[in-house]
Amino acid sequence: MALSWFAVLAITTPLGVVAYRNGLALTPQMGWNTWNYFGCNVSESTILSAAQAIVDNGLDKYGYEYVIVDDCWHDSTRDPDTGAPRPDPTRFPNGIKAVADEVHSLGLKFGIYSDAGEYTCGGRYGSLGYEEIDAKTYASWDVDYLKYDNCFNDGQSGIPLVSFNRYANMSRALNATGRPILYSMCNWGQDGPWDWAPTIANSWRISGDIFDTFDRADDRCPCTSAIGCLLSGWHCSVMNVINKMSSLGQKAGPGIGWNDADMLEVGNGGMTKSQYIVHFSFWAILKSPLILGNDVTQMTNETLEIITNDAIIAINQDASGSPASRIWVVNVTGGELQLWAGSLSTGATVIGLLNSSPTDQTIDLKMADVFIDSSAQVKTAKYRLYDLWQRSSSNDTVWGKDIGVVSGEVPGVSLAPQSCLIYLAVPEATASSRKRYDEF
Ligand code: GAL
Repeated sequence: MALSWFAVLAITTPLGVVAYRNGLALTPQMGWNTWNYFGCNVSESTILSAAQAIVDNGLDKYGYEYVIVDDCWHDSTRDPDTGAPRPDPTRFPNGIKAVADEVHSLGLKFGIYSDAGEYTCGGRYGSLGYEEIDAKTYASWDVDYLKYDNCFNDGQSGIPLVSFNRYANMSRALNATGRPILYSMCNWGQDGPWDWAPTIANSWRISGDIFDTFDRADDRCPCTSAIGCLLSGWHCSVMNVINKMSSLGQKAGPGIGWNDADMLEVGNGGMTKSQYIVHFSFWAILKSPLILGNDVTQMTNETLEIITNDAIIAINQDASGSPASRIWVVNVTGGELQLWAGSLSTGATVIGLLNSSPTDQTIDLKMADVFIDSSAQVKTAKYRLYDLWQRSSSNDTVWGKDIGVVSGEVPGVSLAPQSCLIYLAVPEATASSRKRYDEF
């Protein structure tokens, strides 16, 4: 007997627990957020000029969709009569709904921030104990996205069920509004959210805050692995976050949710071009949400070139939603060499070669490594490789440079200091007719 979707939900959902089936983020969400560049300095004009710049630069066409105001939009107190949250009247003189309306009129979506605690990290009031009224108010403002932080949580963490309950309260409240609101949990990986967040949220942060550095170790970000981390911290470098993501891919996917590696720093000035390419590429192939964190009203061509690499974005947005896995990592002086591979719905395979060290390195790229889980036939087949950072300027030809057919091994692939290569391996039989990165 065929069961309706509703019946399946009712059977598989224990009483009072939400199965998070809001139909959103079937691929990782993309957008822009105020925090990494503007911090607490947010206002109506910050948001509307960013939204306009997203459209003017055509970023919406690449998938950047959500415009999100982070911390500090709040007035100093809630409405004394209703308890509802309200915005800072000086920074948001027309209220939040007016901002959301403008953002919507540009064809974009609007996101807001709160905290599953008494206060936000910036010291504004949080939503703990106010989940229902806050969710209702956001829905009445036509909010499409909630980033939900973890500061000042009154000790309600340290045990997965305690964290789960705190975050599930907001999940239920959002669902009860009837408005589809993407739920982006930000509890910094505490209590292993990849194990329990999929039933209540669309994505979950796996680390303390990113900092605009490539590999600088910082005691304020003490953990090197997300598993068992007791102090998430902040000032986490790109390499620290990539290494934390390395074992978590198995817990993400379409309809499950996404490991959130944190918002992007591309364009904020702390890294070189090749370091930013590593940052953007690995966030993409690990299927992290791609939330820009730079000032999109003033971007260099270099920044624009990185964040609009369609082939890399297409891998992030591929329907299979399968995060790349790390095949091996070896230490070299001052860093590591790493090989990553991931399968795509098109039948192609993405390969990531990473050199985090400060010197030139070479890697022998062995297809037996790339296809480590596959049969001998797959390992020894012929593949045409495309380099996705060497792009053709014309859309009607292949967007990654064709670097030839390989069978077995490409010995001695050179990697510049702190750089990566992102290759697409396409079975040779289907490669010849290929015109674009997504055609096979
Ligand atoms: C942190 C969060 C950041 C940002 C900040 C705002 O906890 O991880 O992404 O939202 O709070 O105060």
